[in-house]
Amino acid sequence: MSDDETGSQQIPNVMHPSILKVIEQRKAIKERLSNIKHKIGVYSAKGGVGKTTVSVNLAYTLKAMGFRVGLLDADVDCPNLTMFLGITGSFSDEYPLKPIDKSGVRILSTAMFIDDEKKPIIWRGPMIGKMIREFFENTEWGDLDYLIIDLSPGTSDAPLSIIQLLDLDGFLLVTTPQHIAAINTIRSGMMARRLGVATLGVVETMSDGMPKGAKEVADTMKCELLGTIKYDKKFSEMSDGGIVPVEDDPEIREEFIRIVKKITA
Ligand SMILES: Nc1ncnc2c1ncn2[C@@H]1O[C@H](COP(=O)(O)OP(=O)(O)OP(=O)(O)O)[C@@H](O)[C@H]1O
Ligand SMILES: [Mg+2]
Repeated sequence: MSDDETGSQQIPNVMHPSILKVIEQRKAIKERLSNIKHKIGVYSAKGGVGKTTVSVNLAYTLKAMGFRVGLLDADVDCPNLTMFLGITGSFSDEYPLKPIDKSGVRILSTAMFIDDEKKPIIWRGPMIGKMIREFFENTEWGDLDYLIIDLSPGTSDAPLSIIQLLDLDGFLLVTTPQHIAAINTIRSGMMARRLGVATLGVVETMSDGMPKGAKEVADTMKCELLGTIKYDKKFSEMSDGGIVPVEDDPEIREEFIRIVKKITA
């Protein structure tokens, strides 16, 4: 493959069977997911910056605004989403896969197929890619307005599979105020852009209210600074207790409503 001036990839005239296979898979997934109107990835190459926190609160804010919402944990080998939502004892052997309805949002995570949350999932890249395909090829999502995808850190297997397989509306980037977090988040944005996926904007978490990391990302990526979520120990207390902050705290809800309004506009 070669890159054009915009960084998007062009398909060569003569195609190797493996490229044809990827194109076919992508087409089949596109048809399979045609009843999902919007697909948004929540992403940063940096770990621990608040991707899962933002994904959960974004999904439940969209639900409160009347949208039909799905929430996918694409952090296949280190899934956290079910813990943030207090989903326990949900081990399932159903196939095709069925998301769990948790207070009106459809949830899917590898954690739902593992009988002990402390068990490590030790998989190489191809297995992670296969699991991610299952989430789209063999999952009954139903009709959705938004599918929010909580990504793993890094710029390799899981994010790459999502970008290659899905027609994403774009990525919402997440950073903390620190320069190192901003640099790693810029890397994710650059990767997405290079592969032809839009950046919807950037959110700063654990902020003091004066955006630093997100400003650096927004200036470099020429994307919108969607908002700041202040550092508040309520976040970790609530997520540890399986409580969704926007469902419990009016101030946090307001912050997320402002962000969601910008994205949906
Ligand atoms: N605004 C905030 N104020 C205080 N704590 C926060 C805030 N946002 C997130 N946290 C806490 O920071 C920790 C990391 O957040 P989270 O798990 O969402 O990050 P992540 O980017 O998804 O991590 P990973 O890369 O491991 O998937 C969690 O304990 C979470 O509760
Ligand atoms: Mg996470």
